[in-house]
Amino acid sequence: MYATLLTNLENGILTITINRPDKLNALNKQVFDDIDTAMSEVYHNDDIKSAIITGAGSKAFVAGADIAEFASFSKKEAVALSKRGQDVFFKIENSPKPVIAAVNGFALGGGCELAMACHFRICSENAKFGQPEVNLGLIPGYGGTQRLTQLVGKGKSMELQMTAQIIDANEALRVNLVNHITTSEELLKKTMEILQTIQTKAPFAISKIIDCINTAVVSDSAYTNGKSGYEKEADAFGDCFNTTDMKEGTTAFLEKRKANFSGK
Ligand code: COA
Repeated sequence: MYATLLTNLENGILTITINRPDKLNALNKQVFDDIDTAMSEVYHNDDIKSAIITGAGSKAFVAGADIAEFASFSKKEAVALSKRGQDVFFKIENSPKPVIAAVNGFALGGGCELAMACHFRICSENAKFGQPEVNLGLIPGYGGTQRLTQLVGKGKSMELQMTAQIIDANEALRVNLVNHITTSEELLKKTMEILQTIQTKAPFAISKIIDCINTAVVSDSAYTNGKSGYEKEADAFGDCFNTTDMKEGTTAFLEKRKANFSGK
């Protein structure tokens, strides 16, 4: 179905696997087009409740943007490439349904940026993270200067991006780049377990959590519609009161039973 992705829908979870293992799943134009289309499916297919992004093979999540593809670009082409990458990653970040990165090896350059565009990250013990673009005379171009700073803080982000240091899974956990570390064998299982827990909650409320938290860290007014995170939160809190799921959740609590959400 996709030239560069494998997809599998199970228990409402769409697993999207970047499938160029011979190139360590490097992101070329086709991968961006395919992720864009797959994310449209996540947004619009009611059978999909959440998604996982991972990489094929045991060595790499994604080893970066495809260096061979952009090496001879002009400035104009490079700006367009950066904007395209940013847009596709915004689409992941702003997905109304949860998207978790299951990082199974190298997540370098655009690979680290892809993982950071997901709502949060789980990684295997052999995962390695970094923004090594300065080694190529470059900087990150798919949101990495912004999202790494949001996740690990300014000083650590500066150091990692200036030195091109590659960090291991334990260090990634210590600096809050990932939420959990598992064995390679357990990675998808653990990620699915977390998504299955999330899928028992009210989907509208989950989508509003994503939107409000994104507003806390994304300063771009085109995204926030000029509203502060607090204004968005109050609106979203109010919107929840118009849902059947909110009535069900509060009634179930008062009746001392488990809520059964319908997604309405
Ligand atoms: N773009 C294009 N091709 C890439 C790539 C990238 N970002 N990363 C890896 N590949 C390709 C290699 O060219 C090689 O292809 P080949 O077999 O046709 O020569 C293949 O993937 C395997 O990579 P290789 O370098 O041989 O594996 P390794 O185990 O020796 O090293 C890495 C692994 C991740 C350390 C190394 O591939 C690397 O440094 N990649 C680039 C990382 C980077 O700078 N990313 C930021 C890009 S902006």
